Amino acid sequence: MGHSELSKLVEPDRVRKEVYTDPAIFEQEMARIHESVWIYCGHETQVPKAGDYYTVQIGRQPMILVRGKDGKVHVLYNRCPHRGNMICGDRKGNTGDQFRCSYHAWTFHHDGRLKNIPMMESGYAGTRFNKDSPELCVKRAARVESYRGFVFASLAKDGPTLKEFLGPSIVAFDDMCDRAPEGEVEVVPNCFRVIQHSNWKIFLENQLDALHPSVTHQSTGRAAHEVEKMIAKKAKKGEAPLSYHMLSAFATVTIDKWDNFQTINYPHGHCILTGYMGLRPQDPDTLAYDKVMIKAYGRKRFEEIVGVNIHHVLLYPGLSVQSPLQQLRAVRPLGVDKTLTEIWHFRLKGAPEPIYRRSLAYYNLVNSPATLVNADDLENFWKCHTGLSSDGGDWVSFARHYGRDLESASGVVESAPSMGTSEAPMRNQMKAWARYMGAR
Ligand code: FES
Ligand SMILES: [Fe+2]
Repeated sequence: MGHSELSKLVEPDRVRKEVYTDPAIFEQEMARIHESVWIYCGHETQVPKAGDYYTVQIGRQPMILVRGKDGKVHVLYNRCPHRGNMICGDRKGNTGDQFRCSYHAWTFHHDGRLKNIPMMESGYAGTRFNKDSPELCVKRAARVESYRGFVFASLAKDGPTLKEFLGPSIVAFDDMCDRAPEGEVEVVPNCFRVIQHSNWKIFLENQLDALHPSVTHQSTGRAAHEVEKMIAKKAKKGEAPLSYHMLSAFATVTIDKWDNFQTINYPHGHCILTGYMGLRPQDPDTLAYDKVMIKAYGRKRFEEIVGVNIHHVLLYPGLSVQSPLQQLRAVRPLGVDKTLTEIWHFRLKGAPEPIYRRSLAYYNLVNSPATLVNADDLENFWKCHTGLSSDGGDWVSFARHYGRDLESASGVVESAPSMGTSEAPMRNQMKAWARYMGAR
């Protein structure tokens, strides 16, 4: 679709339904966005030993994240240069000293270089085949960069560096790692994988939608709040465990309170939602953690670290990070109406075990496929996609508080005071979309 056709689909405060439902637009998005920009592949601790690999999807491309013998992490296309077979059929594993294709046993080094072809001399003598040709190596991602253990790849040769691309949103990784007494996090080595029957942008637009939690998740929050009150009544100190609060907050933080939060929207479509539900609890587990942190960093730095006021960071086009609770969700579009999310969580290195338990509780209670919170959202995503596929209307509205955003000269857009439920993040994402797609 050409520039002028695409530009008719996106206005600053509304978007045509085809943006979500047209398979041809989806193909263009994959080429111009997902297969061009920096995409999160995985964390270095997913592949700790030489030969460890993890497969991952970047746009339409099946890729392999692998640790080499030299300790470096490589990102390769999952495709054998011989006849095109995928090199790794499993999701993860250890490939030993080399990759060995299951079809005709060509072997490759961890960085993709060809190692050996069985019966090479007798089979190819006199043909135009040249064993030293780069075409006989497993193709590598054009660029790979890692920040504090988080590995990204870009399939485009040119473009901003990872740091330039992330900009101020890099705080997602700093905030997560700084909260560890050792300054590093470690992945918990498995993730939930959920396939959503909806377009990938519907998930991203939901992430910083401060308007929806107290509506969509109200029933879940209310039920949890009832149980929390019952437990608190019986408890010696009159308090239920903190994990109940993770769910009850969906009922107690009412729609008007969400307006006190703020979104800060950056170029490239990234966005930060400030305000943190739990702020600074004073329970014994937190106090014990504070002690370890003060020992590691000194009081001044400790106060700076735990004072970072972030609820959620969205890294367009495929990552949603809740750094104070060490949660990360990666979005992998599979088709115009089919989206995979990988739901990960991390352990703060050097932190006491109860702090990890808290992260696990949030993971299970709020982000896992088993929780009602996730189910509430998934139902809406599917219903949105189905509604958008109908003839019941042509536009999606992002008009809430439009015209009231505060825009700086550098292009950063903040929601105005007491307007945290502004649809500024969705407008910002569509602005980035239009720019990547060449519609603006
Ligand atoms: S397809 Fe891989 S060795 Fe033949
Ligand atoms: Fe939600």
